[in-house]
Amino acid sequence: MLMLDDILIQKLQILEAKKQKRITIPNFRYDGIHIKRDGKDLISFSCNDYLGLSSNQQVIEAAVNATRKYGVGAGASRLVTGECLLYRELEELLAIYNGTQAACVFGSGYLANIGTIPALVGKNDLIIADKLSHACIIDAAKLSGANILRFAHNNTAHLRMLLEANRSEYQNCLIITETVFSMDGDVAPLTDMAAIAKEYNAWLMTDGAHSIAEFNSNHSLPDIKMGTLSKAYGSYGGYVCGSNALIEYLKNAARSMIFSTALSPASLAASIEALKIMKNEPERCNKPLENARLFTMILELPEAQSAIVPLVLGENDKAVSASSVLAENGFLVAAIRPPTVPENTARLRFTFSALHKNEHIENLCSVIKKQGWI
Ligand SMILES: Cc1ncc(COP(=O)(O)O)c(C=O)c1O
Repeated sequence: MLMLDDILIQKLQILEAKKQKRITIPNFRYDGIHIKRDGKDLISFSCNDYLGLSSNQQVIEAAVNATRKYGVGAGASRLVTGECLLYRELEELLAIYNGTQAACVFGSGYLANIGTIPALVGKNDLIIADKLSHACIIDAAKLSGANILRFAHNNTAHLRMLLEANRSEYQNCLIITETVFSMDGDVAPLTDMAAIAKEYNAWLMTDGAHSIAEFNSNHSLPDIKMGTLSKAYGSYGGYVCGSNALIEYLKNAARSMIFSTALSPASLAASIEALKIMKNEPERCNKPLENARLFTMILELPEAQSAIVPLVLGENDKAVSASSVLAENGFLVAAIRPPTVPENTARLRFTFSALHKNEHIENLCSVIKKQGWI
């Protein structure tokens, strides 16, 4: 009989052969865009810290002060004794800025999805999710026990077709999409999706993990608005915004919140401060998209719709070596490979921050142009 390690080594060898084996590399991120890796300084076009708030002095100070006042850890789950005073302030602010009645903060965006989706639908229900939905949406959907269908990416005609053919056989139906797609940077047709959901008596849930300043968007559309505090907010945690009933129910039924230790006070305080900055500095929130658009303009690519721009190269090898070439030239741009993206669509995924300067983008573009990848 094979030992556990033998089996695992075989699996790792298969991944290696497919150029899909992953390793973690220690980084010293000394501000939102500058990274030291293996002794080399790189400008990152790979972090999701879109607004540079993870290294913002006001945010850091808020986290430090909260740590001094409340300690490092929460000590228990929220429902036991982990409900730090800061939760209420953060949830009230999130609800206001998302235009909803209430909000519930989770341990991460992943935990928000994994707790919320199975709390809302189960065995006799139907989930219809966009084909390119993030792994944690799919994991959560599987965990729920509901029947799962996928509609072609951003294709509302296909969504309607699936509803027409299947909706009547199920008690409840949950439609799920990302607002900004994490690996493609395009945006979902939310107005149409909300109308379709209403027509078929389905609920619409959006994952806004990669949205910046959600409160600038059309507030009233989805029934369930999920987001993360770990990207544009520069902190850690996740949240769901919606009606009072939804949030009160999630606090009773979302197992990833109920049975997991609460967030550290530092993360809560950092998110509160970040949210205030986002509200007071709209120009900071607009900058990542402006930077992404400068990049697509110089390279004559289709205009960026968000702070994420993919350059699809196809084979895994190609993406990995392109990433190495960029690193040799001082840029950190991760190669994204299957299973994160579909087979044969390995890519460089560029993310733009409010902290990038025009010259960073122009220098990056001139390296890309020289390589002839476009
Ligand atoms: C679309 C999407 N949803 C959810 C998550 C999970 O959020 P978090 O990193 O806060 O767990 C991510 C993170 O990569 C994401 O891209």
